[in-house]
Order: sequence, then structure tokens, then C-alpha cells
Amino acid sequence: MRFRDKVVVVTGAAQGIGEAYAKGLAAEGAAVVVADIHADKGQQVAKEIEALGGVARFVRCDVSDRDSAAALVEETTEAYGGIDGLVNNAAIYGDMAFDLLITVDWDYYEKFMSVNLDGALVMTRAVYPAMQKRGGGAIVNQSSTAAYLYSGFYGLAKVGINGLTQQLAHELGGMNIRVNAIAPGPTDTEATRIQAGEAAQDMTRQMAIKRLGTTEDMVGTLKFLLSEESSWISGQIIAVDGGGTFRL
Ligand SMILES: NC(=O)c1ccc[n+]([C@@H]2O[C@H](COP(=O)([O-])OP(=O)(O)OC[C@H]3O[C@@H](n4cnc5c(N)ncnc54)[C@H](O)[C@@H]3O)[C@@H](O)[C@H]2O)c1
Repeated sequence: MRFRDKVVVVTGAAQGIGEAYAKGLAAEGAAVVVADIHADKGQQVAKEIEALGGVARFVRCDVSDRDSAAALVEETTEAYGGIDGLVNNAAIYGDMAFDLLITVDWDYYEKFMSVNLDGALVMTRAVYPAMQKRGGGAIVNQSSTAAYLYSGFYGLAKVGINGLTQQLAHELGGMNIRVNAIAPGPTDTEATRIQAGEAAQDMTRQMAIKRLGTTEDMVGTLKFLLSEESSWISGQIIAVDGGGTFRL
């Protein structure tokens, strides 16, 4: 029960990897805020956690909207007294448009970046004062190994997430707030099935461990990065990818 008395906000927790993060943290004692734009699925995740004896609540939150982020912080601190952890996992992914950087519609591109890149900054700016009041905290951003491959605006946003992680680690380190990122490789979620279909299996041929990741594969690293076990680790991007990428 590493996270007893800890309060953690997980964005994009209505399904997929975020759902596994929320459930994994709740199973180790955290009070979890399931933050998402999808109310029905998000409420269901919170209910499932509570049915297993955990503490959770769904809060509707659009990570690209500053007012929505501020409202989430208010509701969370009122309900649980503070915030110790933030997982910036939300992204437009499963229903993402296929297009190129040189042709993508500007309005779509700006909306995409406002969620997939700026959303992590919006949430961090809203949450960090509550962490500071608790004497510190930990933030984990969700990157992707797509940051190291050609993957258009999706990969570009994840490169931004990596940079944001490194820069914010410096701005928040003096407040005892650590900022790290997880870069998953291709992971078997409904969104990946929609995005990549059969092609996802093909990608596993290039990996050291020749299978897709599972949502559960991600949870151990998340718990490590949020816990005291990683108390001197900040500004790092950890690939959880079956040995799929080399970074020199
Ligand atoms: N699945 C993979 O193979 C894979 C690999 C690398 C990185 N990732 C990253 O992991 C994260 C989760 O991926 P997934 O496969 O579970 O995707 P998913 O599409 O199942 O989950 C994303 C969640 O984010 C929510 N969301 C979207 N826009 C939002 C907004 N504006 N505000 C709040 N919530 C919003 C969605 O409703 C959804 O619940 C994403 O950041 C994705 O880029 C996924």
C-alpha cells in the first residue's frame, strides 16, 4: 500500500492505459481522480475501483481547458484535502486523423496540440500549487516511443512532452516536485486496435521482446516514478517498450 494517504489525478483515465494506471494506484491505497472528457466510461472506472474497496471519483475535465483544470483542482482538494500526484496521460489517439504535417488542417493541428502537448502544461500549472502546499509531489507525463520515429504531428507532440518533462523538472524541482515521463511502445489498447489494426503486430518483429505491451506492463513503472523509491529521479523519459528503441 505504497500510496496510502496519497491523492493522485490521472487524466485520460476512462479507458486504456489511463484506466490501468488509475486502478493500479487505487489498489495500492491512493485516492484516485479519474479525469476525462468521457463521463460514462470515466464514472464506470471510478465505480469499479470503489467496488473493489478503493477510493476514486470521476471528474469531468478537458485538459486543454484552463477553467476545467482549475475546477478539477478545486473539487479534488475539497474532496481529499490536497494532491500528491499527477499523471498527464490524456491524448487524442484512437480517433486521431491520418494526415501529414505539411497538409493537416490548421484548426485540427491546433486542437490536437492543445490536448496532446499543452494539456500536460495546463494540468501541471493548475495542480502544482496544491502539491507545493503538501511539501512536494510527483508528475508523470505520458510520452511515446513515437517521439523517436517518424510519426507526424502525433510524434511531434510527444517530442514536446519529453522537452516539457525536462524543463518542468527544473522549474519544479526546488518545490520538491519531480517530473518524469513514460514512453510506451505499441500497447494493446482499443485505441491502438483502431489506429494500427494488424500493423501493430508487425511492429513487434523489431522488438527485443516480441509482443505488444499490455496496459499492465506500464503500471509498475508509473508506480515507481510516483513513489519515494524514485526520490532522486527527475527529468527522465523511461521507455517501456519491450526493448523496441535504441537511444544513444
Ligand atoms: N496505446 C499505445 O500503443 C500507446 C503507445 C505510446 C503512448 N501512448 C499514449 O498513452 C496514452 C493513453 O493511450 P491509450 O492507448 O490508452 O489511448 P485512449 O485513446 O484509449 O485513451 C486516451 C484517453 O484520453 C481521453 N482524452 C482525450 N482527449 C481528452 C481531453 N481533452 N481531456 C481529457 N481527456 C481526454 C480519452 O477520452 C481517453 O479516455 C496517450 O497519451 C497515448 O498517446 C499509447
